[in-house]
Amino acid sequence: MKPDTMRIRAAESGDVIAISEMLQQLVAVGKRSSPIDPDFVTDTYIHNPHGILCSLAEDDDGQLLGFQSLIRAHEDNRYGTPVGWGIIGTHVSPLAARRGVGSRLFETIVAAAVGAGLDKIEAFITSTNLEAQAFYEKIGFRTHRIADGAVCKVWST
Ligand SMILES: CC(C)(COP(=O)(O)OP(=O)(O)OC[C@H]1O[C@@H](n2cnc3c(N)ncnc32)[C@H](O)[C@@H]1OP(=O)(O)O)[C@@H](O)C(=O)NCCC(=O)NCCS
Repeated sequence: MKPDTMRIRAAESGDVIAISEMLQQLVAVGKRSSPIDPDFVTDTYIHNPHGILCSLAEDDDGQLLGFQSLIRAHEDNRYGTPVGWGIIGTHVSPLAARRGVGSRLFETIVAAAVGAGLDKIEAFITSTNLEAQAFYEKIGFRTHRIADGAVCKVWST
């Protein structure tokens, strides 16, 4: 894995297994508790009916470094995000962490958000996940509400 040689592209159906396996790595190091199976990956990230972009980073050898998803909040979304805002999720391989992968992915997500006419993007972060809170702060998100067991940060255009 070569995090310094990063290629960014839109994730596709053919990436589902690699994404699922990478999420398994996050589970193994205690950084994820949500589902990781291919059907969940497909429905949540790749072919989410509310999806705007799922952006993926890979190295020169095509090894997955991480991905970031942006969906549009709809009525009754499970995060309680205001309807019409974006909802972001970032997942970087433990083998590629702290090398700028998440930050690079966010450049493409911002462009997609602006293109989709979004004013705000919300990140719903478990309150004990201090790394993710630091990450989102660094790329410009700010805390705007506290939900049950979560800190919700927002990015504004
Ligand atoms: C949180 C996460 C997305 C960060 O991605 P990343 O590619 O490692 O982040 P970057 O390298 O772009 O870091 C950008 C900045 O975020 C902050 N940051 C990132 N990881 C950090 C950590 N472990 N501790 C403290 N600050 C951190 C730093 O300010 C960093 O800038 P710096 O390295 O110049 O100091 C990644 O660690 C991850 O996937 N974690 C597990 C899944 C998860 O929790 N996702 C969020 C769910 S809401």
